[in-house]
Amino acid sequence: MRRMVAETRLHPADLILPAFVREGVSEPVPIGSMPGVVQHTRDSLKKAAAEAVAAGVSGIMLFGVPEESKKDAVGTPGTDPDGILQVALRDVRAEVGDDLLVMSDLCLDETTDHGHCGVLDEQGRVDNDATLERYAEMARVQAEAGAHVVGPSGMMDGQIGVIRQALDRAGHQDVAILAYTAKYASAFYGPFREAVASSLKGDRKTYQQDPANTRESLRELALDLEEGADMVMVKPAGPYLDILARVADAVDVPVAAYQISGEYAMIEAAAEKGWIERDRAIMEALTGIKRAGARNILTYWATEVAQKLRD
Ligand code: PBG
Repeated sequence: MRRMVAETRLHPADLILPAFVREGVSEPVPIGSMPGVVQHTRDSLKKAAAEAVAAGVSGIMLFGVPEESKKDAVGTPGTDPDGILQVALRDVRAEVGDDLLVMSDLCLDETTDHGHCGVLDEQGRVDNDATLERYAEMARVQAEAGAHVVGPSGMMDGQIGVIRQALDRAGHQDVAILAYTAKYASAFYGPFREAVASSLKGDRKTYQQDPANTRESLRELALDLEEGADMVMVKPAGPYLDILARVADAVDVPVAAYQISGEYAMIEAAAEKGWIERDRAIMEALTGIKRAGARNILTYWATEVAQKLRD
């Protein structure tokens, strides 16, 4: 009877797989703080994408990890057509065609030597407007490389409008924008820093949101929609279910939530110690995120869970 009356059901198509691809490696590199997740080689990424398709996952969100020596102050690998993310986008599109929505992280933090999501001014502060110019170019090269969807995650003011305009002007009207709308300055991103070999020292508090606040998220939401966001996202997911519910109530575009690296790591670590039941905890966390209002969930367990849902 529980099965019959359940109000919330997970479906493989709810899920989007975030995946890392690292330049210049011949074997996948395990991420210590995310057991089961790797930095892919170009080949292993293609396999992971094919597995996601087979499991019924609806999308893959790609993050590129360039060779350390290629990082610089303006994040050049992010706009180089031969940068690792662009190469991976082409690889994955060649592998999956239109069977999987191919999405790209649109942010500078993976490619800058200082690790910030934007370029810096002379005082070392993130320069919002100079960053927007870099984002416009990133949007163009990612679309050219085959991204169906771009995911701006840098939280610069005005980023959605600038990216929409850049895409349209370059003839990419059909490339959609999944806006990281309410992205909080969270301690739970910790393992991700290892995953992308981040160079960041300090924090992102000047551009990501304060965990104490709701109203600024609703303001970000209104701005992103006005600027042309096709879908909006709340991130992290678990500690921000109230924000997710508010956002889902307020809009008529699809709403996504990102169950981030720290949320993943906590469950894996506790399960490894035998303190919680891993599979039940994963399903419960994902069901809670969907119940709160997420249409789609980015989760590192996407393929595994989609396979289970199909069995
Ligand atoms: C920034 C970005 C981050 C994540 C996704 N995009 C890190 C940050 O803002 O510090 C985190 C994802 C995760 O923790 O799983 N490009």
